[in-house]
Amino acid sequence: MKFFLDSADISEVKQAADWGLVDGVTTNPSLMAKTGRPYQEVLREICAIVDGPVSCEVVASDAAAMLEEGEKLARLHPNVVVKCPLLVEGLKATRALSRRGIKVNVTLAFTPLQALAAAKCGATYVSPFIGRLDDIGQDGLGMVAQTLRIFANYGYPTQVLVASVRNVSHLVRAAEIGAHVATIPFGVLSQVLHHPLTESGLERFLADWRATKQKI
Ligand code: E4P
Repeated sequence: MKFFLDSADISEVKQAADWGLVDGVTTNPSLMAKTGRPYQEVLREICAIVDGPVSCEVVASDAAAMLEEGEKLARLHPNVVVKCPLLVEGLKATRALSRRGIKVNVTLAFTPLQALAAAKCGATYVSPFIGRLDDIGQDGLGMVAQTLRIFANYGYPTQVLVASVRNVSHLVRAAEIGAHVATIPFGVLSQVLHHPLTESGLERFLADWRATKQKI
């Protein structure tokens, strides 16, 4: 399973890239707004740090304007993936962008049939928001599992990009069911690397080693 970082914060992107764990990055309009900086600048900086797909979302409401925005975003860097919302207009723009060879991440998917529609329109990625489904008492990862089965049934190449990840268990289960990608907030990604037993275990090993007064 590929790990994308779900962030537009440059210091988070730098740290996570330094850990060697980041295969790509996803942003959204809220994450971009939080930076308080021009989006083109942020996007270019992220692309310079991470050599992988970097999603940036269109904000127009009709397909023609989404297409225009998508083409503009794609011109900023070859690794840019245009994010389109899972609406009729977003899917029209997805089809048009895909036909022009521009990669699209269809975002805000909440049902397997929405995801199937995105695949039929040529999306490179579709992003089910599992945390938001769990928040309303539905089974986010169940929806991902159904989507993966449906894509496999028909051989769709669209990758299922698990989004709205809230904890490490989401990641474990997403990997178990074969999700292609998970986009992970910085806080959750740092938890992937830490376990109290690893840290206390190493402390003990090093204390025992120091007592031998040897050097390697
Ligand atoms: C994905 O691309 C989205 O940016 C993100 O995962 C949304 O997560 P949230 O539900 O925590 O806002």
